[in-house]
Amino acid sequence: MAVLHVLYSTSTGHTEYVVDTLIAALRASAPTLTVEKQRAESAQAADLLRGDALLLASGTWNTGGTEGQLNPHMYVLLKDRAKECDLQQKPCGVIALGDDRYYYTARAMEHLMQFVTQHNGQVAESFVVVNEPYGQEEKVTKWAAKLLAKIPSLVA
Ligand SMILES: Cc1cc2nc3c(=O)[nH]c(=O)nc-3n(C[C@H](O)[C@H](O)[C@H](O)COP(=O)(O)O)c2cc1C
Repeated sequence: MAVLHVLYSTSTGHTEYVVDTLIAALRASAPTLTVEKQRAESAQAADLLRGDALLLASGTWNTGGTEGQLNPHMYVLLKDRAKECDLQQKPCGVIALGDDRYYYTARAMEHLMQFVTQHNGQVAESFVVVNEPYGQEEKVTKWAAKLLAKIPSLVA
């Protein structure tokens, strides 16, 4: 049975809402898929290797005083605890949230993509959610189908 490991960080709950909406859609379309959900702050490098596929999700934040950065918890995980991680060609989904009132809107995406590619992973699909996710559920559900299509081992 295939496992998708979801690692996410959230400050106001937006990313968690997107992740929960996504997981519900994945479970509906792929009943044999096991989805594990874990917060970045409780994760170690080994957790990135747990599933057959990995999903990273983070809001954009002013971590370190500069806008356009990862959420602080995701930042510490990826830049510190997991900085030596080898994703071994693992297929990865990437989700970034942001707000269009900021100049670097949803720039967490760039950081997540860079992490995956620089650590030997494969970006299967990416998804940006701009502004509040409430009311954007249909887009999330459609993206769930795209993710499953791009990583067929999850539904095998
Ligand atoms: C202190 C702070 C800094 C932020 N910086 C950015 C930013 O640089 N770019 C952006 O697109 N959104 C920025 N945002 C907006 C958040 O990314 C957005 O509200 C997101 O949905 C939050 O997701 P979360 O609740 O899961 O953390 C910032 C929000 C706060 C409160």
